[in-house]
This record gives sequence, structure tokens and C-alpha cells, in this order.
Amino acid sequence: MIGKKSQKYWKDARKYILHGNMLLSKHPKIHLPGSWPTYFKKAQDCWIWDLDNNKYLDLYSMGIGTNILGYQNKRVDAVIKKIVNSSNMSTLNCPEEVLLAKKLVSMHRWSNMVKFCRTGAEASAIALRISKSFTCKDKIAFCGYHGWHDWYLSANLTKKNTLGKDHLKNLSTIGVTKKLKGQVFNFKYNDYEALKKLIRKEKIGTVIMEVERNIKPKNNFLKKIRSITKKNKVILIFDECTSAFRETYGGLHKKYRVNPDIAIFGKALGNGYAINAVIGSKKVMMKAKNSFMSSTFWSERIGPSAAIATLNEMRRLRSWEYISKLGKYIKDNWHEIAKKNKLEINISGLSSICSFTFKKNNQLLKTFITQEFLKKNILASNTIYVSTKHNKKNLKKYFVILDKIFKKIKKLEEKNKINKTIVKNNVSVAKFEMLN
Ligand SMILES: Cc1ncc(COP(=O)(O)O)c(C=O)c1O
Repeated sequence: MIGKKSQKYWKDARKYILHGNMLLSKHPKIHLPGSWPTYFKKAQDCWIWDLDNNKYLDLYSMGIGTNILGYQNKRVDAVIKKIVNSSNMSTLNCPEEVLLAKKLVSMHRWSNMVKFCRTGAEASAIALRISKSFTCKDKIAFCGYHGWHDWYLSANLTKKNTLGKDHLKNLSTIGVTKKLKGQVFNFKYNDYEALKKLIRKEKIGTVIMEVERNIKPKNNFLKKIRSITKKNKVILIFDECTSAFRETYGGLHKKYRVNPDIAIFGKALGNGYAINAVIGSKKVMMKAKNSFMSSTFWSERIGPSAAIATLNEMRRLRSWEYISKLGKYIKDNWHEIAKKNKLEINISGLSSICSFTFKKNNQLLKTFITQEFLKKNILASNTIYVSTKHNKKNLKKYFVILDKIFKKIKKLEEKNKINKTIVKNNVSVAKFEMLN
């Protein structure tokens, strides 16, 4: 049975681990409650084995966007094995952090300095600390997701569901410092006029945003933001934790030719090993020279070593071109299969993180798709993080199955039978408070 051992582990996890696990995106309830394999034994290229030795093709998140070069990439892992054999930690620093800093700066000519950490939320906190050291202003305007820290959740102190517009509905502010109320403001992607007003009205010091997620920038949105932030001496942070290395060799901002004051890279940078980088101009970074930002495991060796090996391998393969091209091929096929089955779907996202949504019953149908693909040993939903290990050959089977699923959906739709019974257990939920 699929996920039998996992179900056992999950029972204990719920008992012994707060929230059941560490990352919401890996919570079984948001994929397929009651049937999701949940735990893995081994992963290789774009394949995953669960605890019961079932083998799945991962056409889903590839480690939530971390493994652009596939699982256990030979060249990256050869470097890591050497590090393990010569110690990951010591009382002294690792030279790889210097090499990686030089590499990232040389890839982004507008930048001069770097600070490393291990998670995206930490990187956002570092970037904001640097920005506030420069501007001496507390107020932040943001768009998109930037991690779990107090500053981000505090957006819900003013209006309960501010974060629901971009992220999860009704995130609680329990435990968040109440004094942060009125410091952090959300703006809508592509709504330049609203941001302009916000910057003036609230005397914003920092704008932090993703360059692009689900929607493309319109009417020179990014260039206009660069211009208004410069004019008002506001620091512009591009959070490229997810978008970097997906369409360019570096930040996505290189494609749009808009340089921020600070950029954040994470996820794919270490191809599965924890490393995040905050890069910035010397002028901005040096203002934080007296600000204490220091952490034991920011100094370990695997992170920067993995990043150097990953960057070398990305450049050798020109991975950003390969995954974008394959992502475009996926989008085209989705379009064709939906059209053939007369289903209305909306396709969006960077080609290498492509997504589709149904106009009606999206959450239910998304779960149905996951359920049906799982029967065929494929991990899938409505988003694919493309990796260099995916190819047209392993996608062929996926498209044949998707066609059958879309046919089923159409039939159910015609008979007016799209209801909760099409999903075996419960419909997946994206609401955090319902996961406990
Ligand atoms: C743009 C962006 N910023 C920050 C984060 C948070 O990163 P982490 O989960 O490593 O803390 C994410 C994670 O999905 C992200 O996509």
C-alpha cells in the first residue's frame, strides 16, 4: 500500500513534533490527506523512493525548488563527500565562503559584498537589517512571501488577512510582537500607483519584493519601482530566494535589467544543501558594519561548497536555458491537453516553475489530480519545478495520464458530479490553522 510506513511515522510526528513537521509545503494535508507518502528513503535525479520502497517520478516541487540539478547530483555530491571527509566544521572559517562571495559578486556587477546564512527567512531578516541601518527608517513595503519571521507576520496585526492576498489565508499573529503594528505594509504586484502613494504616505524606508512570481511585470513596473525608490532614498530588495537561477545565471533581475540595492538568493543555490546569500552594494552593506549578525551554522562548510559546485554545474549545463525550454514545452502541452478536453485552465508562472489553475473547483481538482497521479507512482499537482533531470521522455507518460485525468474531470463536470466524493479522503487544505 502506498505510504503505509509513512502513515505510521506521521502518527508519531503529530504526537511529538509541533505542527507535525518543519515546512508547511511538505505537510501531507496540503497534498493528499491520508494517502500522501510523506517520508522518503532515497531520492535520485527526479525519482523518490518512499519508506515502503515505492518509486515515484517527482513532477512536483523537486525539494520545494531546491534541486534544479536533480537529487544526488554527481558533481555537487562529489564535492560534499570530500568535505565530509575533511570536516564540515572547525574552530576556523572555511575558505569556500570567500570564493563563493567573489563568484556571486562577479556575476552581479552592481554588487560588491555578501553575507551568507542558511534560510530564506534569515536572509530577508539580514537584508532588512542592512537596509534599516542605511535608511534609519523602520517602515517596510512588501509584496509576496518572505518567510516566517515576526516582521512578515506583523502585516496581519493591522488587518487580519493582509497576508492572505499573497500567501496563506488568516495566518495568526499569536506570539508576534504587537509593537510591530503599523510598520509593515503590503502592496499588490503591478500596482505602481498604490506603491507610490504608500511610499509617500508612510515614509517607507525599504521595499522588499520578488522580481516575478505568477504574473509578469506590466507597464515597466520594475523600472518604475527602481526609479521611485531611488528618488525617495528607499532601499530596494529583490527577494530572489526562489526566482534566481531559473531563467538567468543569477538573479531574474538580470533579465529585466533592473538592479536592486540588495538581492537575496537561496533554494537552488546549493542544489539541496542549505545556503542563502544576501548581496549588496558596498555603500549599503557597510552601513551595517556595526550591526550584530552572526550565527554558528552560517559558518559551516557544506553550504558554500555546494553553492560553488552548483554554480559551476549550472554554467556547464546552462541549466536555466534547459529548464525554461522544458517548462515552456510543459505549458504548451497543458494548453493542448486542456483544449482537447474542453477544460478551462489558467497557466502561469516562470516556465521553469509552471502552474495551472482551474477556473472552478480549483482546490478540489488539484487534490483529485494528485490522487490520480499517485496511483501511477507520480508525485504531481498543478505546479512543476522543472529540473535538469526532467526530460521529454519522462514527461511523455505524465502527459498521457494527465489527458486521461482531464477527460475524467470533463465527464464529471458534464454530469455535474464534481464534488468531494471524487477525492478518497479529504480535500487538501492550504490553511495553516487547519493542519494541526
Ligand atoms: C521568495 C521567498 N522568500 C523567502 C522564502 C523563505 O525561505 P525559507 O523557507 O528558506 O526560510 C521563500 C520560501 O519559499 C521564498 O519563496
